[in-house]
Amino acid sequence: MHRLRLGVNIDHVATLRNARGGRDPDPVRAALLAQSAGADGITAHLREDRRHIRDADIPAIMAAIRIPLNFEMAATEEMRDLAVAYCPHAVCLVPERREERTTEGGLDVAGSNVLADMVPVLARSSRVSLFIAADPAQVEASASVGAQVVELHTGAFCDAVADGHEAEAAEELERLRAAAAQAHGLGLEVHLGHGIAFDSVAPLAAIPEAVELNIGHFLMGEALFVGLPAALAEMRRRMDDARRAA
Ligand code: PXP
Repeated sequence: MHRLRLGVNIDHVATLRNARGGRDPDPVRAALLAQSAGADGITAHLREDRRHIRDADIPAIMAAIRIPLNFEMAATEEMRDLAVAYCPHAVCLVPERREERTTEGGLDVAGSNVLADMVPVLARSSRVSLFIAADPAQVEASASVGAQVVELHTGAFCDAVADGHEAEAAEELERLRAAAAQAHGLGLEVHLGHGIAFDSVAPLAAIPEAVELNIGHFLMGEALFVGLPAALAEMRRRMDDARRAA
């Protein structure tokens, strides 16, 4: 099996910076450190309320790193125009609700009347990824609107693992496996993300169609105790071991 890419989400470094309103800790420094520690890409989510990453962070990160930037955004006209202006390597469209603490669910691609118009516009300058639940109708719809990538929401699986709910974890994993196979069959590249931690990464990394994992919160939390390079190296080791064993 091919080597899995590890995308590192640096939003939480910006959250910590914003808690005091100053410049530290600097998300650009975090992106550079992740890059030097072996990250294959950097993810940053510019939310409508700018609660973590801010507008100026995006060009600053892009100018600093040599690995690809995955720009996460809601499917709004404001964000579409920013993405067209920045031309990041990839754009990942996610649902956004002001009151949520993090991206809680996947996009309703099947029920959307904006994605069919927006995806081709974004696809002129970036690879377009849609963050969806592992649901056959959403996978099918993602292919129909012209996305090149789907990122499957792994939150429910990771929560079930963390809570020790084995039967639920097995069901969620099966859903993810089936959606990954379906997406691959439709010519979509498969990414996985949300809530991934040391205890949940191996079964996800073993999904053969997966090409990339995007991980943020757990890695940044772990980095507080062992440093980002060590946290990243341990995640990388677990990904590679799981891939080899599969
Ligand atoms: N992928 C997507 C599309 C996300 O929205 C997020 C959270 O911002 C992540 C991955 C990373 O999730 P976590 O921070 O839980 O690792």
